[in-house]
Amino acid sequence: MHRLLATARSRLGRRSRRLLAGPVFVVAVGLVAFGFFAGFGATSSATQPIVSKNPEVLAQGQYLFDVHCSACHGVGGVGQGARHVPSLIHVGAAAADFYLITGRMPLNAVGDQAQQHSPFFTASQIEDLVSYIADLPHIHHSTLQGPGIPSILPLCSKRDVAPVSGDQATNGGTSSDCVTLAYGQETFALNCSQCHQITGAGGIVSNGMIVPSLKDAPALVVAEAMRVGPQPMPRFGPGQLNEKQLSAVVHYVEYLHHPKDLGGLTVSGFGPVAEGFVGILAGLGLLLFASRMIGTRA
Ligand code: HEC
Ligand code: HEC
Repeated sequence: MHRLLATARSRLGRRSRRLLAGPVFVVAVGLVAFGFFAGFGATSSATQPIVSKNPEVLAQGQYLFDVHCSACHGVGGVGQGARHVPSLIHVGAAAADFYLITGRMPLNAVGDQAQQHSPFFTASQIEDLVSYIADLPHIHHSTLQGPGIPSILPLCSKRDVAPVSGDQATNGGTSSDCVTLAYGQETFALNCSQCHQITGAGGIVSNGMIVPSLKDAPALVVAEAMRVGPQPMPRFGPGQLNEKQLSAVVHYVEYLHHPKDLGGLTVSGFGPVAEGFVGILAGLGLLLFASRMIGTRA
């Protein structure tokens, strides 16, 4: 027994470099993949666009609109009822920004489902277009305005969350202009989880329509989606969700991107594909190592 162990050890010494090379390579590839997936998810931010009244910005927005949108939405955004293309006169900055930063517009062909893509325009072109669309009521001499870009209240610090008396239901249990994750979870559970699930993983609603996962949705996209209600999602106006409720939901969804996990390695919550991929590569490395160990002993 002792001799057997001693030979194994000396063999290990001589061959250790060769033995280790394969598994180390496989594990390294696994770690690089992990870094890739972790980095991939971290890039989910979108900045608040500046809705401008500057004539130069509006002219640039109109130019982009005429080239890329007017064939469907009509000159001046009046829409085409016959082709089921909606008017954009009263959609407001929130809808314009939502459809552009999520790459849903411009659509390729009427009848296509508007789906999430990487944006077609640069951030500054999106600002030009959003400013132009927000200005459409003015161009058409209308006083009606669509929803503007929603502002998002910050998360409360510990000091802010001291118990307060008063209307807990409408202010989320805080006195100042900040929101808590608990309030966000509660509001999300009541209004969103029936479609998006409480983890934000998404799924399929009864009519077969796909409900997207919210794992990568930037804060602004979440806020705008509530005010816009991209079909078939209902629209949550300020009457349904006030600024505090909207902000709390946004922070809760952001929290879902990196939830505190109590069990196991989750690979930043990127779901079963990334987890399985890393698991297989790292596990395969260990298995390879074990099998070569056994191989040299025989
Ligand atoms: C090929 C035709 C087509 C083109 C091009 C197009 N759209 Fe649309 N757009 C549609 C249709 C159809 C809808 C409604 C169906 C839907 O939402 O899927 C729509 C919906 C929208 C909405 C949501 C309206 C609402 O009522 O909430 C916005 C905002 C919008 N488009 C902006 C744009 C902008 C900005 C451009 C140019 C960059 C553009 N679209 C280009 C066909 C088009
Ligand atoms: C009736 C089901 C339903 C409810 C309730 C609902 N959603 Fe949605 N949501 C959808 C569907 C379906 C889409 C995809 C629409 C599309 O692509 O045009 C969507 C899209 C979104 C998007 C856009 C995701 C992206 O990456 O582009 C966000 C963000 C979102 N929902 C957040 C919410 C929040 C927050 C609530 C609660 C306040 C909510 N939703 C309530 C069905 C729902």
